[in-house]
Amino acid sequence: MNRACVIGWPVEHSRSPLIHGYWLKEYGIDGSYTKEAVRAEEVAEFLRGLKERGFVGCNVTVPHKEMAFAIAEEAEESARVVQAANTLWLEGDRLFAANTDTYGFMTYLSHSVPDWRAHDGPVCVLGAGGAARAIVYGFLDAGVDEVRVFNRTRSRAEAIAEQFGPRVKAFDWTNRSDGARDACVLVNTTAAGLKGAGTLGMDFGGFNQDCVVADIVYVPLETEFLAQARAQGLRTVDGLGMLLHQAVPGFEKWFGVRPQVTDKLRAVLVADI
Ligand code: ATR
Repeated sequence: MNRACVIGWPVEHSRSPLIHGYWLKEYGIDGSYTKEAVRAEEVAEFLRGLKERGFVGCNVTVPHKEMAFAIAEEAEESARVVQAANTLWLEGDRLFAANTDTYGFMTYLSHSVPDWRAHDGPVCVLGAGGAARAIVYGFLDAGVDEVRVFNRTRSRAEAIAEQFGPRVKAFDWTNRSDGARDACVLVNTTAAGLKGAGTLGMDFGGFNQDCVVADIVYVPLETEFLAQARAQGLRTVDGLGMLLHQAVPGFEKWFGVRPQVTDKLRAVLVADI
């Protein structure tokens, strides 16, 4: 029986057991997926002893993603680009790392809005943390000509522009409404939309009507950011799809079946929000 888990501190909030537990049942797999509360000072020891603990791999959530990347012996490009890993697996004795946020976001976007490039504008990204890096990388890989990064702390946006080269440009946070009006896609990667964490203060007036507005926050499912965009007639993409799709590659590595993200699974998650 293959065993996998998610590690974090705290880890209680993680919805990953719900997703993987659903798939294990759906595909009749004799496996398990548990939550493991691991403190920062225990992460290295836990991961180096993954095999002895009986695990074939794990997910990694906040705040251990950077440490997991540093500890893994091999990393896919997805993790190297972000310098953080959310999915680990063993190949023999070697620990491999990937960051599946790029895959999760881009897959859900192209499933839910296949014509997200309906017009030629830039992609605009709010925030400059690990999630922003994963998403910028996804759009560059998809061939987008220009990505604008708006961040409260401008130097972090500049660091992303420097990492990815001339197709990525850093912008002041105060320009986030004016500077994103011609966007084909606008994505919020900041925690600012989280329940109780305040508002992003966007003004969607004058936005190109083909603009797709996406959030990676999924609690609440319809954030104020998405509600305001919708009120202006813009198409929106919620954060739950990214969460569901980012889980696919890990499940396949650990349990040998590529699982489907279905409406039924989504409903299970929605009921838990
Ligand atoms: P992650 O790796 O999950 O993306 P992170 O590295 O902590 O998380 O980054 C959080 C992002 O949310 C940052 O861009 C942060 O802006 P700063 O770089 O200025 O800190 C942004 N953020 C968090 N709270 C915010 C708020 N209230 N308003 C605007 N941006 C916010």
